[in-house]
Amino acid sequence: MNLPYAEPYKTKMVEYIKPSTVEERKKWIEEANYNLFNLSSEKVFIDLLTDSGTGAMSDKQWAEMMMGDESYAGSQSYLKLKDAVEKITGFPYFLPTHQGRAAENVLFSVMVKEGNIIPGNAHFDTTKGHIEFRKATALDCTIDEAFDTSLHHPFKGNIDIEKLENAFRSNPPDKIPFVVHTITCNTAGGQPVSIENIKKVSQVCKKYHTPLIIDAARFAENAYFIKIREEGYQDWSIKKICRELFSYADGMTMSAKKDGLVNMGGFIALRDEELYKQATVFNIMYEGFLTYGGMNGRDMGALAVGLDEATEFDYLETRIKQVAFLGERLVEHGIPVLQPFGGHAIFLDANKFVPTIPRNEYRAQALAIELYIEGGIRSVEIGTILADRDPFTHQNRYPDLELVRLAIPRRTYSLNHMRYIAAVLKKIYDSREQAKRGYSIVDEAPIMRHFTVKLEKISH
Ligand code: F0G
Repeated sequence: MNLPYAEPYKTKMVEYIKPSTVEERKKWIEEANYNLFNLSSEKVFIDLLTDSGTGAMSDKQWAEMMMGDESYAGSQSYLKLKDAVEKITGFPYFLPTHQGRAAENVLFSVMVKEGNIIPGNAHFDTTKGHIEFRKATALDCTIDEAFDTSLHHPFKGNIDIEKLENAFRSNPPDKIPFVVHTITCNTAGGQPVSIENIKKVSQVCKKYHTPLIIDAARFAENAYFIKIREEGYQDWSIKKICRELFSYADGMTMSAKKDGLVNMGGFIALRDEELYKQATVFNIMYEGFLTYGGMNGRDMGALAVGLDEATEFDYLETRIKQVAFLGERLVEHGIPVLQPFGGHAIFLDANKFVPTIPRNEYRAQALAIELYIEGGIRSVEIGTILADRDPFTHQNRYPDLELVRLAIPRRTYSLNHMRYIAAVLKKIYDSREQAKRGYSIVDEAPIMRHFTVKLEKISH
């Protein structure tokens, strides 16, 4: 008999969370303008808004915090982190930044010019935002299979090589400054990318003399899926797989708040010295001196340890199986979720869950609000609100998928919490036919509107 898996860690400290009532939550969400980002965290029972910066650090990371070297220049914590980054990624040049979008800001300040096209796989919203802010275009080349939420494909984050080739063939060579490959692909549902795909994308990039940049926020989870799903890697360690996948790229941007297992931090790592030199100028302007770039010494130390822990198989196995545990409970209840399950989150398919709510009334957001009211669970809409308006026509862009993301923080919640979430969702699912109306927008920002959007309930 196979033994069940168990987490390779135990609890040393606990943080209390507050239960509340449906009536209280109805009032609180109305006061928050039906935007879950506006809720104070004490009004949330289980917080699945994001897996970013919400994980628990280990005792070894906390111990490293005490050793933080806060020197402005030449900090020992910086050197520890530089060493860890090079060991895990193989990239010799490295710049710390305060988080992932800051890494994008610095690198794109060098690489993106007005009118450029940056192909990739369903760029994350900050990536897209930093591209569009520079009057360039993020071109989505994800494989078509990614848009069928019930289709089982092991690597739904893959880039379609034909779409990528087309982008190069139909544009002058200087229009595409680089390709960005996001592993795992958050926007497509936390779906992994295969080594085979990274290799092929890299071959196309080489053919057109264009760098390949990896958005590596969840690279360790991606490596786990490669080990489990891709032919030929079963006997490889996670660390060896990571080195292999980065070996095909020219650089990476990293939000360390995910697979760095820290609450804040990020970095850029590069192979080319010249590009590094150009990026240093912007790093100093926007982030800080080269040896801290917006991070405390202690945080850099904790990140060096976090990168090592996040690339251990036992940790990844329990992490990804916990997410799958929730997914399996939902599937048992017949609830439509994106499959295969993502690495960091389960995604509810709102088009199938509440097709009764019109799309222009933001059905995924409506479902996320219901989940909060019913169970105090905070999730996030990955649908029309997140997709923003078209920068040229100012019309809503209706993405193929309307999802609600249940992002699971790392090493934070128990299987009992997963059971609770599944029970709340079953209750909502059983009465789904009564859901007819959604919300209208009363106020929104021109870019990345989902963070601050104000909504009103449509009741007639
Ligand atoms: N790239 C990906 C794939 C991401 O998921 C994120 C952030 C970023 C870049 C930006 O990193 O937050 O450190 O500035 N994702 C978070 C999320 C916010 O909830 O998925 P950041």
